[in-house]
Amino acid sequence: MKSNIEIQRIEKSKIDSVDFNNLPFGSVYSDHMLECDFINGEWQTPVIKPYAPISLDPAAKIFHYGQSIFEGMKAYKDADENTMLFRPLENWKRLNKSAERLVIPHIPEDIFMEGLKKLLEVDNNWIPTNEGSSLYIRPFMFASGIGFHASPADSYKFIICTAPSGAYFAGKVKVLIEEKYARAANGGVGFAKAGGNYAAQFYPTQLAIEKGYNQVIWTDDNSHEYIEEAGAMNIFIRINDTLITSPTSDRILNGITRKSVIQIAEDMNIDVEVRKITVSEVIAAAQSGSLKEMFGAGTAAVISPIATFGYHGTDYDLPELENPFAEILKKAITDIQTNKAEDPYGWRVVL
Ligand code: PLP
Ligand code: COI
Repeated sequence: MKSNIEIQRIEKSKIDSVDFNNLPFGSVYSDHMLECDFINGEWQTPVIKPYAPISLDPAAKIFHYGQSIFEGMKAYKDADENTMLFRPLENWKRLNKSAERLVIPHIPEDIFMEGLKKLLEVDNNWIPTNEGSSLYIRPFMFASGIGFHASPADSYKFIICTAPSGAYFAGKVKVLIEEKYARAANGGVGFAKAGGNYAAQFYPTQLAIEKGYNQVIWTDDNSHEYIEEAGAMNIFIRINDTLITSPTSDRILNGITRKSVIQIAEDMNIDVEVRKITVSEVIAAAQSGSLKEMFGAGTAAVISPIATFGYHGTDYDLPELENPFAEILKKAITDIQTNKAEDPYGWRVVL
């Protein structure tokens, strides 16, 4: 890092206006944010400053060519008010993987980690303590450099904003298996957390929402026969007592929750298969009664059980089980995240 992080504190906190018992997801922002510019080939001194709009040139390449990537993380507090993160270096590594694909400069580990820790220290009282809530953290990087020439920018911004948040989904989750549109293609940017991946999902997702679904389950772009992932989470499917999830590829985001769930499930002696799964297999399992559960896994969504899925004009309801894997695995992972259980994996980082 060029030099120590500079801190400009807010004059008056807005925390008293926030109802921590009724937190939405990601739409109330904490007092401060971290901002760091990449100019003349190097990252400048990071600044923690009051959360506020930023000023950009209309010719900034982010607006024209979408050079923009982000991460999603959470900070938690335990009963003793310790602050902790979950596998934060995985987010840092993935951000740099996305950066490489979008020709954005790598962010050094010290700016990411030290900046994040300092920001959480400054806004520590914004980390919710109530069950099911956490401080959602959004690190992102984008092209602030200007020019209409369709080529990478010469300057970039790295920002971290945080938002005390409740659940991502309100109520039961109903998904639609996509038959026409695709989220990603071979050789594309599906594996990256590129802003454009999400923009491209909005139209088909809006069509699904108009039909009463919350989210689309993406299938492969070639045959629409293989289950890939959902708009903001990876997908797990339980057939009888086996938990199946698609292998990651250059079309699928390598979710940190996904790989943690696979590890925890295997250590609980749950039979986990990381393999391709077809829509026909899922439909056949639903019709025979062997389809027991489907759930999404992601930082924002945590583990979200799917109540119903739609395909080709038919809705299929998932059974309501006594002790679903989704509930067991959600408890196991959130207990590790919030310091309610031992962490044999060393995933929890107490600040
Ligand atoms: N898939 C997509 C498309 C996502 O946006 C996310 C969220 O980050 C995930 C999967 C889950 O990834 P993670 O568990 O790392 O949050
Ligand atoms: C996350 O789970 O952190 C994500 O980035 C998903 C987001 C689209 C809400």
